[in-house]
Amino acid sequence: MINPDTACIYPSNRFSIAPMLDWTDRHCRYFHRVMSKNTLLYSEMVTTGAILYGKGDYLQKDAAEHPVCLQLGGSAPVDLATSALAGKERGFDEINLNVGCPSDRVQNGRFGACLMSEGELVGDAIKAMKDATGLPVSVKTRIGIDDLDSYAFLCDFVGKVAEKGCDTFVVHARKAWLSGLSPKQNRDVPPLDYERVYQLKKDFPQLTIAINGGIKTLDECETHLQYLDGVMLGREIYTNPYLLSSVDQRLFAGNEKILTRFEVLEKMYPYIEQQLSNGAYFKHVARHMLGLFQGLPGARAWRRHLSENGHLPGAGIEVMEKAAAFVVEG
Ligand SMILES: Cc1cc2nc3c(=O)[nH]c(=O)nc-3n(C[C@H](O)[C@H](O)[C@H](O)COP(=O)(O)O)c2cc1C
Repeated sequence: MINPDTACIYPSNRFSIAPMLDWTDRHCRYFHRVMSKNTLLYSEMVTTGAILYGKGDYLQKDAAEHPVCLQLGGSAPVDLATSALAGKERGFDEINLNVGCPSDRVQNGRFGACLMSEGELVGDAIKAMKDATGLPVSVKTRIGIDDLDSYAFLCDFVGKVAEKGCDTFVVHARKAWLSGLSPKQNRDVPPLDYERVYQLKKDFPQLTIAINGGIKTLDECETHLQYLDGVMLGREIYTNPYLLSSVDQRLFAGNEKILTRFEVLEKMYPYIEQQLSNGAYFKHVARHMLGLFQGLPGARAWRRHLSENGHLPGAGIEVMEKAAAFVVEG
């Protein structure tokens, strides 16, 4: 198990894992934390409606996850402040507001990417959350929406929000089309424009600016970090999680030993046992680990064994041990 007392507790946006709905749940975050002490982890987006009126517990987390940021979806400052406070009480270290999601459902609720055209409101929301919690509060945004895609528009938005006290922006370096493209297409179709994010940092040097979108290697991260304060990776880390194991050494000048993939696996066993004894399903943890052996001989057999057996009644560690036996570590 991870010892929460020795985990890094200071959030740094230098390297973070993107909030991803249905992916970055608490089990996923624990698995990622095993491989990197310093990476800032994000929750999935949780709407204020879910927190204030929902029946489930959407703020579950493990003490070992620190540093971890709660991403909220919403636009009413009062609701966001109340939700942020609930997050603080549950141990989240930072709050982030989603101003990047283009889905119809989100637009109907008047939040997500469409808030880029309401800089004043976003600024008010940030201020309300900061006042309520005293925590760092950041915004995750795009470089534009629909035809509002000029650099001047982006600067106007960032300027208005920064004026109300937001000092950290994570920028997904492509615009969002609010109609016509699905959320998935909106992650690939609009072209990336990293230069625009670099320019933003030049024009707002006092702000912490992190870049997101299409980044796949730590070499690329190092290049971005020459111009910016932070990098955020999403899909690449999820599909190839072992990339994370070098992050502390490469990007945080850490000098702890890098765990092998099998050591990572071993460190997950006590957590899985504990979760199973608390009533969690094995498959809900195992699904995030399918990519652990990516690129190694036997990785496909590992994935297949887990997928075919992980959902069966009574599945546990032994399924994982058997799956891992197919892998030859290089
Ligand atoms: C399955 C999935 C779910 C996502 N859910 C969210 C979300 O809840 N909040 C958010 O701000 N972005 C969400 N995103 C977008 C990512 O945070 C990120 O901005 C995007 O994937 C681009 O980064 P990447 O190219 O490194 O993956 C999601 C992306 C994926 C693939």
